Amino acid sequence: MSETKKGPERASVPFRNPGWAGNTGEFDLSEAEVRGDEYVGSRPADGGHPSRAPSYPFMLEDKTPDAPLFEGPYRERYEKILSRYPDMRGALLPVLNLAQELRGHISQETMREVGALLGLSDAYVRGVTTFYTMYNKRPVGRFLIQVCTNVSCNLCGADDVLEAFLENTGTELGETSSDGLFTVMEVECLAACGFPTAVQINSRYYESIGAGDVPGLLEHLRDEGGD
Ligand code: FES
Repeated sequence: MSETKKGPERASVPFRNPGWAGNTGEFDLSEAEVRGDEYVGSRPADGGHPSRAPSYPFMLEDKTPDAPLFEGPYRERYEKILSRYPDMRGALLPVLNLAQELRGHISQETMREVGALLGLSDAYVRGVTTFYTMYNKRPVGRFLIQVCTNVSCNLCGADDVLEAFLENTGTELGETSSDGLFTVMEVECLAACGFPTAVQINSRYYESIGAGDVPGLLEHLRDEGGD
């Protein structure tokens, strides 16, 4: 019988998921090994903690709403995206992802700029952007907290988890806290149904969260991200 490959030791950092989907303990694969080095969505070198969620758009803590589209490394990534699609329309989603990574949300002005870059009408870009809940249509806090309240999580107390986040951040759904740190949202399935309640904070997954974990988790975020 072949020997089972062991994954890395669980990190001692509190509340951090020890691995992304390709690194569950049975497999010991890096993101680059699975997606390839040329993966067009590759994150900035300093943003690639293995516990980051694989979903896009990638959310940075530092958001720059006035940043130009696109300069420096972002220009390189933008051009690389364009090179992979037969037409500009096909490149729209990854370009919007890149814009949101940089600016933190997709404003009407950003929709217009992306449309102008790609030669697409405002109406088309707006239709696509507003279809996907993953695009923030207004600014969000340093930490965007997305609590899954779909079936598995709901059966395991997701409503209480959501309520605890709102209460402990002093916000209503979708509002940003007065210190600019937190925006709490309710989302449908995060594809982590085996570990309810699943919560995504920026691009990092937190699994098996109960209402009692919330104060400590927020404290951890304040320590990590509060200036
Ligand atoms: S139901 Fe919550 S992650 Fe799927």
